[in-house]
Amino acid sequence: MKNMKISPQAPWFCSSLIDYFAGPIVRIAPNTLSFNTRSALNAIYGTRTANVKKGEWYKTFDIAAGTYSSFTETDREKHSIKRRWMAPAFSTESIKANEPLLIDIIERFCESLKPDGDGWGEKWNAHQMSVYLGFDMMGALVFGSDFKSVQEEGTRDFADCVLPAQKLLYWLSYLPVAFLVRPFLRSHFFEIVGGKPVQDNNRLIDYGKAQVQARRSNEGNEKGFSDGRDFLSRLAYNDDKKSGWRPTDLDLDTESLNMIIAGADPYSQVFTGAIFYLVHNSECLKKATEEVRSTFTSPSEIIGGPQLNSCTYLSATIEESLRRLAPVPSHVPASSSRAA
Ligand code: HEM
Repeated sequence: MKNMKISPQAPWFCSSLIDYFAGPIVRIAPNTLSFNTRSALNAIYGTRTANVKKGEWYKTFDIAAGTYSSFTETDREKHSIKRRWMAPAFSTESIKANEPLLIDIIERFCESLKPDGDGWGEKWNAHQMSVYLGFDMMGALVFGSDFKSVQEEGTRDFADCVLPAQKLLYWLSYLPVAFLVRPFLRSHFFEIVGGKPVQDNNRLIDYGKAQVQARRSNEGNEKGFSDGRDFLSRLAYNDDKKSGWRPTDLDLDTESLNMIIAGADPYSQVFTGAIFYLVHNSECLKKATEEVRSTFTSPSEIIGGPQLNSCTYLSATIEESLRRLAPVPSHVPASSSRAA
């Protein structure tokens, strides 16, 4: 089979059912196999020499922002260049420098959930609040912005854009005629046809573009924490030392959109999942709580490092939540050109 597409992921509940009835490798379309084995994960992602590359699906996903991001670049060489260019944003130094902002956002989140008196507080929707928390954290990391979606209802419309836009772009990217749709993704016509999800995606792109312009013109950021430590500031003037490649404004626009979505969406899913499983398994919640309380004497001590790494039970609850509720629950297709 030539140009076979292979899709390395499926949602846990689906994949469990499929595994039970059909086994871990299933033909889900005439030229598409779905793999659900650990060895397939290694074979597909583990080595650069594997006979697989990102599929056509990627070419539509964030092209509305102008070009391909590190997520959607299908050309291996160009992808490597983007990875090297982005490395400083994900370095230990960068994560450490941004950690206080994230801690501040998390503390404000905890504060806003605290009951006023001694009794129970008000009900809150864990998924919704996790979406706002994820978006606020990524807003700080990527743009140095302080969206305050958790605290202020009036600022939530941006965070509310992420999921509808993702849902639309996921299936749209699978269309056999997606290549015909791509050029129109940012058009007014498509906003009318596609409605709110398209408008939502465009709003996120516009925000990213405005931030890129601000960095490029050295104006900084109009509100929030930006002082050069956010990811976009680190990328705006960086280049790939090996190839000499420098990002254009479009590269930065698309990468901003990618980072905020790639970070906020999976984070909120796994955080919601962890809350769900912990509150439904009181023994596990008790163990995790005891571990944290015996490791730290106050919330302000909770930072990345050996003490946090020693919380192995907590870490296992996160891993298990990731396993059961994969935050990228859909197929992300890769293509192979070898006969099967
Ligand atoms: C629980 C948290 C997260 C999960 C489960 C997750 C999952 C994933 C997965 C599965 C991919 C690969 C998709 C593919 O190959 O098609 C990916 C790519 C990516 N993620 Fe995440 N992610 C998480 C958090 C983040 C965060 C916080 C950021 C920060 C900006 C981020 C940035 C990216 C980027 C830039 C890519 C593209 C990388 C590349 O292909 O070179 N992710 N993520």
